[in-house]
Amino acid sequence: MAKDVYILAIESSCDDTSVAVLKNRLVLSNVVATQKVHEEFGGVVPELASRAHQKNIVPTLDKALKDAKVNLSAISAIAFTKGPGLLGSLLVGVSFAKSLSLALGIPLIEINHMEAHILAHLIADGSVEPSFPFICLTVSGGHTQLVKVSSPYEFEVLGQTIDDAAGEAFDKIAKIMNLPYPGGPVLDRLAQKGNPTRFQFSLPKTDQYDFSFSGLKTSVLYFLQKEMKKDDAFIENNLEDLCASVQKAILQVLFVKLELLVKDTSIKRIAIAGGVSANSGLRALLKDKKQQGWEVFVPDFSYCTDNAAMIGIAGYYKYLKADFSDLSVAAEARLKL
Ligand code: KG4
Ligand code: ZN
Repeated sequence: MAKDVYILAIESSCDDTSVAVLKNRLVLSNVVATQKVHEEFGGVVPELASRAHQKNIVPTLDKALKDAKVNLSAISAIAFTKGPGLLGSLLVGVSFAKSLSLALGIPLIEINHMEAHILAHLIADGSVEPSFPFICLTVSGGHTQLVKVSSPYEFEVLGQTIDDAAGEAFDKIAKIMNLPYPGGPVLDRLAQKGNPTRFQFSLPKTDQYDFSFSGLKTSVLYFLQKEMKKDDAFIENNLEDLCASVQKAILQVLFVKLELLVKDTSIKRIAIAGGVSANSGLRALLKDKKQQGWEVFVPDFSYCTDNAAMIGIAGYYKYLKADFSDLSVAAEARLKL
């Protein structure tokens, strides 16, 4: 029988410091230290993020080992996020992973954060896993991609955003409407009580499977400026309907392309990943699609938002192929999938 593989995984690409321990495809612990320091600024402040990572990383590691009931001596390899992300934040995780690998004399495995979001679907947590090939719609605060996944090692990006990410669109429009950061979940909550057909916003025209959200943001801004001239309480008086209408427009941008890709490839196995997959409207639309014959895969929420367990599962697959990095490996803010 093959020996068990224990991966210690580190994620520090944005504003969450996370450490996980996996035994093969099973998550033994997945600790996430979310940074609150950015809330008052209405967005992530990169310099504050790297400082918070430095402060959080050792206690997060300690807790992850304790929760997993595993000693460092049992770990087979260290997996870490190489990119994409904020350079200063990535540097903290990369340096920490290198030091651990050097001190313990075990392999180092670099992971692409976007690959990891997708591979979170292969974590053994009792849920049904997608078989290959499947299409993954990754929707987070930093990225929006449509990827054809043919194996744990084969990814083909078929479409992506040409400007803002879907989560960024939620957050920026929420900010225009004076909602607190991060706006996505707040906008979602308000949208559930509103009328999505009350306000119409024009949708972008983009090539094939690509997305665009910045035009939508601008059209919401201009619309609100115009209405506020007539009624300066327009936003407060119509907040729920505005949120529902904005959410409908963002989801329409995503679904037009997703539906086109399903039609063109005949692949009806659809997985979603990234923080926006928590969105209630997105989940409702996917439920409808299930009735039309799609197989839909939504990971547990703790594996949707940034977390180290997804870095761990990606590390596990690379470990099986002995795909290791040496100590010269460097963080890459704009690492591509
Ligand atoms: O994947 P994630 O945790 O971090 C990044 O890698 O970006 O995604 C965070 C994004 C934020 O933009 C947040 O507003 C959005 O996911 N988000 C949501 C919801 N929950 C989180 N957007 C819409 N509806 C939600 N329920
Ligand atoms: Zn992410």
